[in-house]
Amino acid sequence: MATVTSTETQNLPISVQADPQPTEEKAAEEKPTEEKAAEEKTAEEKAAEAKPKIRRAIDEEGDNAVPATYPHYLPVWDHGEKYPPLEPFEHIEKGKGADPTFKDLLTEGFKLQHLTPTTGSEVSGVQLSKLSDAGKDQLALLVAQRKVVAFRNQDLADLPPQEAVALGSHFGPLHIHPTGPTAEGHPELMIVHRTVNTSEYDLILGNRNSTVAWHSDVTYEKQPPATTFLYALDVPEVGGDTAFVNQVEAYNRLSPLFKERLHGLKAVHSGIEQVEFSKKREGIVKREGITSEHPLVRTHPATGEKALFVNKIFTRKIVGFKDEESEALLNFLYDHIGRGIDYQARVKWAPGTVVIWDNRVTSHSAIVDWTTGERRLLARITPQGEAPIETPYVAEPK
Ligand code: SIN
Repeated sequence: MATVTSTETQNLPISVQADPQPTEEKAAEEKPTEEKAAEEKTAEEKAAEAKPKIRRAIDEEGDNAVPATYPHYLPVWDHGEKYPPLEPFEHIEKGKGADPTFKDLLTEGFKLQHLTPTTGSEVSGVQLSKLSDAGKDQLALLVAQRKVVAFRNQDLADLPPQEAVALGSHFGPLHIHPTGPTAEGHPELMIVHRTVNTSEYDLILGNRNSTVAWHSDVTYEKQPPATTFLYALDVPEVGGDTAFVNQVEAYNRLSPLFKERLHGLKAVHSGIEQVEFSKKREGIVKREGITSEHPLVRTHPATGEKALFVNKIFTRKIVGFKDEESEALLNFLYDHIGRGIDYQARVKWAPGTVVIWDNRVTSHSAIVDWTTGERRLLARITPQGEAPIETPYVAEPK
């Protein structure tokens, strides 16, 4: 069966299947004799039934499915997995003060190629799993400067998943997604899994013109993610790229007067709808939804660059503006960010690719454009960063 599983964009109709297990009521309707049989069940059987459900994608693989290359990464939805609200912590920015010559990162034999002048690079000849701490710090700086960097021919997927988790932990406490599936036994590894065939593709586009859904990950958190990793497990031969937009450059393109007006504004970001959507679909909810107020223009702690910090998936309203004013300004910003192909980059996946982006200064969108039924299975490691900070507007020379 083709599956489209939830990601950040799960409140959009492209997620056509959440957790399809029937509710108690539906199950009773479908099998009226079950109630009677239940009375005859042993205490052990009843106890097993009372346990929270765990849905595993591996159990739903049809006979025709091409086996996953890394089946231990297939998504798992554990209805019993629950967490308290996230606690505040002091973020230590690894990119700040890192050696800007990148001598411990870009070591002998490396090749670095920029995807566009301002945004995105590709690196080969470097093995992320072998980096020293100094190399990891320089990685945070390189990603902050280039916004997104694709590392080719990595061994991360072949290593035990806990080694991938350990790499991500260098950059901050790892975020556990409130509604997303994980790799079994690794709550910090959020799994993105889609197999799209023609009829599914038609369904996805039934009510939409495009699958593009620009967003930064989980910006409703008080301390949203910073240096974020996504690595390939299985990817379509052609299609399923990820697009990135540079929100520093989006800020830079605005006129001085407009920039000045944006400074000091805050916006509400909400994760409540994501949680409600999951509840409605009988999906999992590991932590209740929250809202946060963040500055509309945030400053990166390592580069000092200012970036627009809004996205259509999670930003709801500008604090203190009336609804129409807020809508007009946010829509202008979303359009400005979305149409800036001259400050965007598109990463093509390949086996062994690890893509790292700075979630504080970018938005991204999966591109759902393949219809071959090929599997697109990726794992995300999402270190949290600082509570977004704003520094004052600085007038530019005329
Ligand atoms: C994400 O939103 O983090 C996943 C992006 C992708 O599937 O390309």
